[in-house]
Amino acid sequence: MIILGFDTSCDDTCVATVEADKRRLQRGFKRMKFEVLSNMISSQVKLHAKYGGVYPALAKREHIKNLPTVFKQATKKIKLSEIDLIGLTVGPGLEPCLWQGINFAKNLAQKLNLPIVPINHIEAHILANWLPPVSENSKFQIPGLSCFAKQSEQVKSKNIFPAICLVISGGHTQLILMKGIGKYKILGETRDDAAGECFDKAARILGVGYPGGPAIAKIAKGFVRGRASVNLPRPMIYQKNYDFSFSGLKTAVLYEVKSGKRKVKNEKYIQAMSAEIQQAIIDVLIHKTIKAAKNFNTKSIILGGGVAANDELRKQFMSNVKCQMSNVKFFVPPKNLCTDNAAMIAITAYFNQKKATKDWQKIKADANLKI
Ligand code: KG4
Ligand code: ZN
Repeated sequence: MIILGFDTSCDDTCVATVEADKRRLQRGFKRMKFEVLSNMISSQVKLHAKYGGVYPALAKREHIKNLPTVFKQATKKIKLSEIDLIGLTVGPGLEPCLWQGINFAKNLAQKLNLPIVPINHIEAHILANWLPPVSENSKFQIPGLSCFAKQSEQVKSKNIFPAICLVISGGHTQLILMKGIGKYKILGETRDDAAGECFDKAARILGVGYPGGPAIAKIAKGFVRGRASVNLPRPMIYQKNYDFSFSGLKTAVLYEVKSGKRKVKNEKYIQAMSAEIQQAIIDVLIHKTIKAAKNFNTKSIILGGGVAANDELRKQFMSNVKCQMSNVKFFVPPKNLCTDNAAMIAITAYFNQKKATKDWQKIKADANLKI
């Protein structure tokens, strides 16, 4: 079956097609049954960069403008009559943005008489781990669009539940106990800013660009602690709960910079600050996730969301899990499937087929949808 996925929850217009249950694949790779046929993303990063964050009214306008082109690119290699199912993000996210994807998908579904599965964006970030790696193929690139149109198979271990999932994105930081696909319990979440939001806000204070995560990661690369080092707090790290708080970290960055002890323009100082911000976020995330995995005696740790694309975080998570819990499996999607994409929406629709509906008018955006 072919599933068409849509995601317009934030500032990326994403459309993808995923083929599932393909006989050819089933025969060769018994446990792996997905193939990403297309994964189109139209990024608005450049437009929002001057605001240092996503400007919802602008994002909405861009979604309306981009959806027809991104959809066309994503379905270029298939016939529309081959599509069996539509997966559509209905929340959480920015409401005006969510509605653009919903309106577009509803129209299409009615025209083609297709069922829609309403998708929770957070569940999709987790289930991105079930996708095969998708590599970038520049041949298909058109201005403003990234296209990933190649696929390979990935055999997934079956014995992974219960699992602890850490979803770290621009809008969310949640620790979730997963007893199976569709069985989730939130153990803790951020009380204020999300981890990605903290990267973005700290980057704005330092004036190093947007989105902040990749910008800070790039500057921090290769930093060796020494004379230029700075010390920032690790908020809530030793508290006996699974909640997070990152706004204090951002404020500490602001005070540090405003204290004027060192010049913000000083390159060494910016690098030291970037490395310390990144490390403070990584320390808290790893500590709390491993604590949850130990307390719930889980068989695996699963990461998802844009911040999981951070190289240093991936490396340190892997080595900490290996050292502290060698019997626990560690999963993180390929970097291009950590950040927002619609392939993860399509695969989530596959696992939620029982929620498929042709009652299109009832599908609504829910900006605060919980997993
Ligand atoms: O999941 P995502 O693409 O969108 C949301 O659902 O929010 O996450 C976006 C967030 C941004 O805050 C961005 O700064 C962060 O993910 N991010 C990173 C990296 N790549 C993206 N943070 C740290 N390191 C990265 N390499
Ligand atoms: Zn996301």
